Amino acid sequence: MAPKTIIAFDLYGTLLNTDSIAGTLAKILSDEETAQTVATHARRLQLEYSWRATCMGIYKGFGDLTRASFRQAAREQAGYRLTALDEARLMQAYNGLDTFKDVDEAMKLLRDAQKKGLNVEAFIFSNGTPEMLAASLNTSPALSSASAVLPDSRLISVEDAGCYKPDPKAYRHLVEASGASSAENVWLVSSNPFDAMGAVAAGLNSAWVDRQGEGWRDGLGVALEIRPTVTARGVDGAVRDLLAMSSPGN
Ligand code: LAC
Repeated sequence: MAPKTIIAFDLYGTLLNTDSIAGTLAKILSDEETAQTVATHARRLQLEYSWRATCMGIYKGFGDLTRASFRQAAREQAGYRLTALDEARLMQAYNGLDTFKDVDEAMKLLRDAQKKGLNVEAFIFSNGTPEMLAASLNTSPALSSASAVLPDSRLISVEDAGCYKPDPKAYRHLVEASGASSAENVWLVSSNPFDAMGAVAAGLNSAWVDRQGEGWRDGLGVALEIRPTVTARGVDGAVRDLLAMSSPGN
């Protein structure tokens, strides 16, 4: 039997829309436009913090980094100091972010593939802590209704690797924890260019989700000559392409 194909979804920015936190920020800041700016800035800071900590060889949970990024973004973009209550509201909302519209169809395709006996297993692979991943899976209607293909046992956090993406150790952890026979049988589905590149640099495959349809133009990717293995317009398109490439189960 051909080796099983692992399809691992990045969570934040790929299945979950991190911009949807702007609704909670708007209630705190009473200004929708500023809330959107703070949400975008916080996301950049959150990733920057994860990279900086990893370069220093320090691991601190993603919840702590997320909280710190909101604090700095609100101060810099809105001149506002978040209270402890604001932070608690934001962190609770962060565990209930909206999924992108194409996620439902992707989960349906995976359910159908499972019924047909395709030799494919789906996972979530994320910087989020195990608690954050479990909370998102249970809160999101699209993800909780997909429990047949994405049960709690298929959540893989970088926490056990003790570093953040795109450290190659994080992707090696995904290969091991998913039970893949080799890195070549693992596909990371991510709309984050740094993540799609990181997987390829570590010897895995990646499907980059290009929702804007702008094409691959990541400056570092061009300079390092690293590209995602394939590109799709949504997670549904990525799943369709990967299922077409994978072998029947028996
Ligand atoms: C994650 C980050 C990349 O979910 O957003 O791992």
